[in-house]
Amino acid sequence: DWTSESFVETTIAALKEKLGDDKVVLGLSGGVDSSVAAVLLHQAIGKNLYCIFVDNGLLRKDEFESVLQSYEGMGLNVRGIDAKQRFYDALSGLSDPEKKRKAIGRVFIEVFDDAAHEVQDVKWLGQGTIYPDVIESVSVNGPSATIKSHHNVGGLPDFMKLKVVEPLNTLFKDEVRRVGKTLGIDPNILGRHPFPGPGLAIRILGDVTPEKVAILQQADAIYINNLRQAGVYDKVWQAGAIYLPVQSVGVMGDERTYENVVCLRAVESLDGMTADWCHLPYELLAKISNEIINNVKGINRVVYDISSKPPATIEWE
Ligand code: XMP
Repeated sequence: DWTSESFVETTIAALKEKLGDDKVVLGLSGGVDSSVAAVLLHQAIGKNLYCIFVDNGLLRKDEFESVLQSYEGMGLNVRGIDAKQRFYDALSGLSDPEKKRKAIGRVFIEVFDDAAHEVQDVKWLGQGTIYPDVIESVSVNGPSATIKSHHNVGGLPDFMKLKVVEPLNTLFKDEVRRVGKTLGIDPNILGRHPFPGPGLAIRILGDVTPEKVAILQQADAIYINNLRQAGVYDKVWQAGAIYLPVQSVGVMGDERTYENVVCLRAVESLDGMTADWCHLPYELLAKISNEIINNVKGINRVVYDISSKPPATIEWE
């Protein structure tokens, strides 16, 4: 029988054997998989694990700071890199979803490669790849997946010449969560909704600017906090706000406004392949809508997405 306790024990022993005194670099994304992979590797090789966490400026509000803090709290040897401006520059003027994805993948590799280079004599690249990623070999979540989907674009960066160690590549998501729990990882990290590697860039339809990111972060934070307070966050597979490239007329006092629309999306799913929209209570939607419209400058209308997958994907881009 598979138990998370025996998995942890045998995997740590195997990693010690395999890695010896070698150094490993690993990109953390804030998501479940890379976090669990990092803690397992850390328990096996300690300070020889060098974690890199990149702020691409497309994360949720305050996410970079708070996640970096919890990583440090877990004793991980983690370096946070502020690369916001590099990502915004690369995205400037791009509207096509695939072009945005490619630009983000390219910059991520550049930033990661630079940082990995600073670790002397590193031999291995650690990745949080899980079993479904292996069979699909498509991009799912986090930096590891981003690397895979873009590594054949142009020449291989230097870190691709590293040997790869993927301690979770036989596990399904629920098993990864159980392993994480056994390792004592913060339930807030383990219970996270999936979040795409390109982040808010694919939730801002059309071109991405730091101003739009700031607006969407505020609306998204109000949305997610309300889901948590109402006790529905854990019942939802994935939720997020989308910034629509649509302006509509509103009134505020005696003034006519002409501002943007935010769409709320929440889905139930088992694996992300198919999904149903969540029947969130009207009262909760009303509260979220009011809070967003009253507090987020630049938004005067909130709509709710009632489309299931297929045919509508979870993300809008
Ligand atoms: P869709 O939108 O295809 O999304 O229904 C299915 C799941 O995949 C995530 N997703 C991505 N994850 N890079 C990622 O790392 C991407 O480019 C990407 N696109 C979609 C999405 O958030 C959902 O969990």
